[in-house]
Amino acid sequence: MAVHISAGQRLAQLVLVLICLSCAEGREIGARRRLADVHKHLKRLNKPAVKSIQSPDGDTIDCVPVSHQPAFDHPFLKNHTIQMRPTYHPEGLTFEQNKISSNGEKPMTQLWHQNGRCPPDTIPVRRTKKSDVLRASSIKRYGKKRHRSTPNPTSVDPDMLNESGHQHAIAYVEGDKYYGAKATINVWEPKIEQSNEFSLSQLWILGGSFGQDLNSIEAGWQVSPDLYGDNNTRLFTYWTSDAYQATGCYNLLCSGFIQINSEIAMGASIYPTSSYHGSQYDISILVWKDPKEGNWWMQFGNDYVLGYWPSFLFSYLADSASMIEWGGEVVNSEPDGAHTSTQMGSGHFPEEGFGKSSYFRNIQVVDLSNNLRAPKGVNIFTEQSNCYDVQSGNNGDWGSYFYYGGPGKNPNCQ
Ligand SMILES: *[C@@H]1O[C@H](CO)[C@@H](O)[C@H](O)[C@H]1NC(C)=O
Ligand SMILES: *[C@@H]1O[C@H](CO)[C@@H](O)[C@H](O)[C@H]1NC(C)=O
Ligand SMILES: *[C@@H]1O[C@H](CO)[C@@H](O)[C@H](O)[C@H]1NC(C)=O
Repeated sequence: MAVHISAGQRLAQLVLVLICLSCAEGREIGARRRLADVHKHLKRLNKPAVKSIQSPDGDTIDCVPVSHQPAFDHPFLKNHTIQMRPTYHPEGLTFEQNKISSNGEKPMTQLWHQNGRCPPDTIPVRRTKKSDVLRASSIKRYGKKRHRSTPNPTSVDPDMLNESGHQHAIAYVEGDKYYGAKATINVWEPKIEQSNEFSLSQLWILGGSFGQDLNSIEAGWQVSPDLYGDNNTRLFTYWTSDAYQATGCYNLLCSGFIQINSEIAMGASIYPTSSYHGSQYDISILVWKDPKEGNWWMQFGNDYVLGYWPSFLFSYLADSASMIEWGGEVVNSEPDGAHTSTQMGSGHFPEEGFGKSSYFRNIQVVDLSNNLRAPKGVNIFTEQSNCYDVQSGNNGDWGSYFYYGGPGKNPNCQ
């Protein structure tokens, strides 16, 4: 069967086909360019490994020679001599840690340890996947926090407090010079309602005002589907020297932190986590300033000195911190205009107490004479206590402590 098509129709068809060819081609070139950029970024982040370990959670842990880690891409670090240990370690009261109820379970560790360890003189690095980068709003934003999410409890502007949907339940101290902070943090796996939300529990070491040049060093655990592609609880660090704008990142996702430890991987899953009315697990984090070299060191547990942030990364923190915060943060993206049901801590309010509500215990600061001590004048802060709350206390075993968190959406938090 022959269909008659006029010359005019034929021409129109041809033009249509050509237009569509070129627009498809344009899209394809755009996509190809973006993919090439992603691959270039992955090559920058994922350094050649001497050994790779598959973690049961789907991560690959690369054992990268200490001297080849991402930090040394930084122009200021080209001639840097790695400090293999701090010149000083702050002393103070030590507290028993890790596991509260003893029923013969193994102490807390990282999940990937089940399948191997990294050799000496290497550091374990969580390999960034293509899908990790593609989930970010842009390659530049991958591994970075949104602007100004640090709680500023001293702000008098209520709009500032509720900015960008970030919600906090924290304890804090200010008005002194601080040279470090420590905490033992209960570890849970809070539920996240939307993949663009997160829930974390951490300490903040802050310098400067809450303006454009805020300096911050942060460490703790987080659940962040966008950053990691799953709902696992992971150890993380963060730093910025300009209020989350151009500088800084999570973990080793930019040049900055210099890791020396071969056993603990930043961004790797922590295992096991606590269960409601069941076994409780916690991690200890200490961050302190080396009084001689000026670097900010981080220790995980009693045994693992992870590495340091060189002093030159910072302005205010090159001298000292002016505020320390401890506690939880979630993003409330207000899906459907209602408060999110993303949990903070265990997802239960402080009133419920041990085994049910999440805690920070033995919170301490490093003072002017470089000693660890209980902080004086601890304040608490939360934007909406009906959604997430905080209650602090003091006793012999736990020193200065607080319970924090909540379920988010509930009859009193809509
Ligand atoms: C590193 O050392 C080389 C040789 O000593 C020197 O030329 C260069 O300027 C140094 N770079 C930095 C960033 O200090
Ligand atoms: C934050 O916003 C919520 C809901 O709009 C409001 O109830 C609460 O009072 C605000 N908090 C502050 C500290 O302004
Ligand atoms: C994470 O948890 C949410 C619900 O809390 C679920 O919808 C989602 O599928 C989970 N994501 C993964 C990767 O398991």
